[in-house]
Amino acid sequence: MTGNVEKLTRTAMRRRDTLKAVVGMGLWVPTVLKSAEADQEAIDAPPQENDLLVFAYGDREGQTIASESIAIHAPQTFAYPMDPATRIVRNGSRLNQILLVRLGPDQLKNDTRLRSVENIVAYSAVCSHTGCDVTGWDDESHRFKCPCHDSQFDPADGARVIGGPAPWQLASLPLKLVDGKLAVVGAFVGRVGFQQPSSDPFGT
Ligand code: FES
Repeated sequence: MTGNVEKLTRTAMRRRDTLKAVVGMGLWVPTVLKSAEADQEAIDAPPQENDLLVFAYGDREGQTIASESIAIHAPQTFAYPMDPATRIVRNGSRLNQILLVRLGPDQLKNDTRLRSVENIVAYSAVCSHTGCDVTGWDDESHRFKCPCHDSQFDPADGARVIGGPAPWQLASLPLKLVDGKLAVVGAFVGRVGFQQPSSDPFGT
């Protein structure tokens, strides 16, 4: 008899533990899903005020970028914005890729200077023609060059189009410094994106 009572008690305890687990799961699953959704929203969001910039690629990928890391007239550094509170990098869209270059003190035109910090300027990395990454740099003219159809952009003057088929300038991103690190003042100025998709990015 005592054995039966113990058995029934053990069964009841197991059921109670199972119920607790199920109830716990019922509360936990939506919370986790909600949190994952919020993270994805943050990852996909465009650059936000006070975001820090981090290296997009290479050995220092994900690390914040100090202004001294950007050498004068060096080829562009690719960056992504990062939420400073959550450390979430907003790399869910390639439209968030940012180019950084430092120019000479007397090179920047007025509007461009207003959006710069320590002569460093930031632009969308997506070419306005058919959307290639603007990876080329001309050491002599200090211009960006798109490798796909050779459009050229002048970073000293709002990344306006100097040559090639690109229909509009690269969108610029106003910068500031936070504790010596490059940070975002606000949204892109200008149009981010491109005119037409191309099945052959190296075609004409
Ligand atoms: Fe850049 Fe065509 S995609 S010039």
